Amino acid sequence: IKSPVVLVNLKCYQESVGHGAHRIAQAAQEVAEESGVSIALAPMYMDIHPIKHHFGIPVFAQHFDPISPGAHTGRIPLTAIKTAGAVGSLINHSEYRLSIADIETNVQALRNEGMISCVCSNNVATTSAVATLGPDYVAIEPPELIGGKISVAEANPEIITGSVQAALKANPDVKVLTGAGIHSGKCVKTAVDLGTVGVLLASSVVKAEDPGAVLRDLVSLL
Ligand code: G3P
Repeated sequence: IKSPVVLVNLKCYQESVGHGAHRIAQAAQEVAEESGVSIALAPMYMDIHPIKHHFGIPVFAQHFDPISPGAHTGRIPLTAIKTAGAVGSLINHSEYRLSIADIETNVQALRNEGMISCVCSNNVATTSAVATLGPDYVAIEPPELIGGKISVAEANPEIITGSVQAALKANPDVKVLTGAGIHSGKCVKTAVDLGTVGVLLASSVVKAEDPGAVLRDLVSLL
C-alpha cells in the first residue's frame, strides 16, 4: 500500500456494522480516488467479504487467531480472513492484546501468505519489541487517548518520534503509523511530519454524521 496511509478501524460500533460499513467504504473510496491518498478499512469479520466485493479499497481484519485450521470452535484462522478478501490484519490492538509469542506467530503467518501485518503498540518499549519481529507496520496508540477528542499528535508527539526512532533501530524496514484521537487534517499532517507514514483511526470517521467530510479533512494537508 502506497504511503501515506489512512487506515480506518471500524471496530464494533453500531454505526459501522453492515450497511454502516458500506456507507463508510463508499465515502472512503470516493475520497481515496479524489485525493490519491491510500485509505484502507478494517471492518468486522462479517463485513470483510462484502466490502472487498463491492469496493476497490484495501480491507484489513481487526484480528485473527494464532491457530491453524482444524478443530476449533468460534475462532478465526488466517485462512478465513484471507479467503474473505483481507489483504492484511491488525495484530495486538489495545482492545485485543496478545502475548509476544502470539504476535510473532501472526506476523510470520501473514508474511508467509504475502499479506500485510500491522502490529499495534501502546508505548515506545513495545514498539521496539514488536518491530524486531519485522511486521510491515507498527501503529503507536497510547490507550488513554483512544476514542478521545485530543489526538496523540497533539498530546504526546514525543511518543510518536520515540516510536519512529525505536522502530528504525529495531528494523529499518518497519513503517510506523500514528493512532489515537486522530480527527483532523492537522493531526494527520503532524503525524507525517514526525516521521510516520500515516494514521490508524476509528471514532472520528465512524461516529461522524458525514464520514466523507471527515475523511476529506483528514487527507486535506497531505
Ligand atoms: O485502531 C484505532 C484506534 O484504536 C484509535 O481509535 O477512536 O481514537 O480513532 P480512535
